[in-house]
Amino acid sequence: MKKVIVLGASNSKTSINKQLAIYAGSLLENVAVKILDLNDYQLPIYGMDLENEAGIHPEAEKFNNDLQEADAYIVSFAEHNGTYTVAFKNAYDWASRINAKVWGDKPFLALATSPGIRGGASVLQAAVDRFPFMGAQLIGSFSLPSFYDNFNEGRLINTEWDEKLRKEIDGLQQALN
Ligand SMILES: Cc1cc2nc3c(=O)[nH]c(=O)nc-3n(C[C@H](O)[C@H](O)[C@H](O)COP(=O)(O)O)c2cc1C
Repeated sequence: MKKVIVLGASNSKTSINKQLAIYAGSLLENVAVKILDLNDYQLPIYGMDLENEAGIHPEAEKFNNDLQEADAYIVSFAEHNGTYTVAFKNAYDWASRINAKVWGDKPFLALATSPGIRGGASVLQAAVDRFPFMGAQLIGSFSLPSFYDNFNEGRLINTEWDEKLRKEIDGLQQALN
């Protein structure tokens, strides 16, 4: 069975992006979904001096190994000041030192949500622009605005947004089949 990694690109324990990514993963059929949590990787802040002195941090190896196990990815990006959260960027920078094609030439669905009306559009655009150069076979992207109006109890309650997300999930499902 194909394995899909689902990740909220945030270290918030109540991450709305993690909630959205998990819901998106639940819409896939006949795949094993594995949820990763950035809090499970205790990484120092990346720095070249640290890498030169101590090498790749073991927790970065763990993160990279977990990522490489997947056949596809659903990542939902939290937006902090228009871009990635520090927690995601840090883990990602570490992983990129092991393997520049972090996403392994595998199908990738990019999501983002925020409490506001832009739905993390800036960070989503950054990921869409950049990740194809880093091994992401980009299947599609989806931004959900006004999270708290549209999502409740683990699912999208707004049917219009739900249909849009399901179309993206169909694309990923086809890429996996
Ligand atoms: C430091 C900081 C910066 C933020 N900057 C943005 C922003 O640029 N755009 C935005 O839509 N929301 C911004 N927010 C609000 C986040 O979208 C909100 O906290 C959201 O819950 C983050 O996603 P998460 O719950 O998955 O971590 C910011 C929040 C913090 C703490």
